[in-house]
Amino acid sequence: MKAYHIDLEAGALRGATAAILPGDPFRVPRIARALDAEAVELAHHREYRSMLARVGAKHVLVTSTGIGGPSTAIAMEELATLGIDSFLRVGTTGAIQERIGVGDLIVAAGAVRLDGASRHYAPLEFPAIADHRWVAGLERAAARIGATAHIGVVVSSDTFYPGQERYDSFSGYVPRALRGSSAEWIQLGCLSYEMESATLFTVARSMGLAAGCVLGVILNRGASERVDPAVVRATEDRAIACAVEAARAWIGES
Ligand code: URA
Repeated sequence: MKAYHIDLEAGALRGATAAILPGDPFRVPRIARALDAEAVELAHHREYRSMLARVGAKHVLVTSTGIGGPSTAIAMEELATLGIDSFLRVGTTGAIQERIGVGDLIVAAGAVRLDGASRHYAPLEFPAIADHRWVAGLERAAARIGATAHIGVVVSSDTFYPGQERYDSFSGYVPRALRGSSAEWIQLGCLSYEMESATLFTVARSMGLAAGCVLGVILNRGASERVDPAVVRATEDRAIACAVEAARAWIGES
């Protein structure tokens, strides 16, 4: 039977147990073809686009999650029922520490749970932490491709504007509970903002499955809110290269 949202059935995965999860459906072919020039598209329903890549004797699935925790949790639930037991998110992020440059990579070891979806899987006291094997594997992969990688805690927010304390929104209003939150995350050593890792890590842990995450830094909030499309593209390519390298090693086909 097909899993409803992702429109896939188990047989189509050809035994794949690892999935790379970008947010953006348009990044799916870029990732899948970096693994295997002959990768095939399996399905595209709503934000969930899936391609299967052959890597040596094994297969790796690439499925987009859309933006944010709710759609990520749906993808993970359905992929897990089809036999996926390890998830690798690859995405973009806005750095909040001065020392982090645009174009650098961040390997998320844990995430602040400023999302809502993860609360449906575990109480807030439960930490959102990556699988240590993915963290180590991504660190090695970043070194192999010559990328600068920062490892630490990211802040996963359900919203891009108020949750990440952006005032350049339609109303410009940030509720009291979130005003000053960026300064606090910076003081606590958090590296950046993004929108999926807290859900990814909590859902995976709650299921006894493994999750990791590598992010390309497309802006530094302390310097500028402007994003340069050429820099975004190059940074995405770097994060994808790191994810592909780490996924190959994960499945033992490097
Ligand atoms: N993604 C986010 O969630 N925030 C940013 O600032 C950049 C990318």
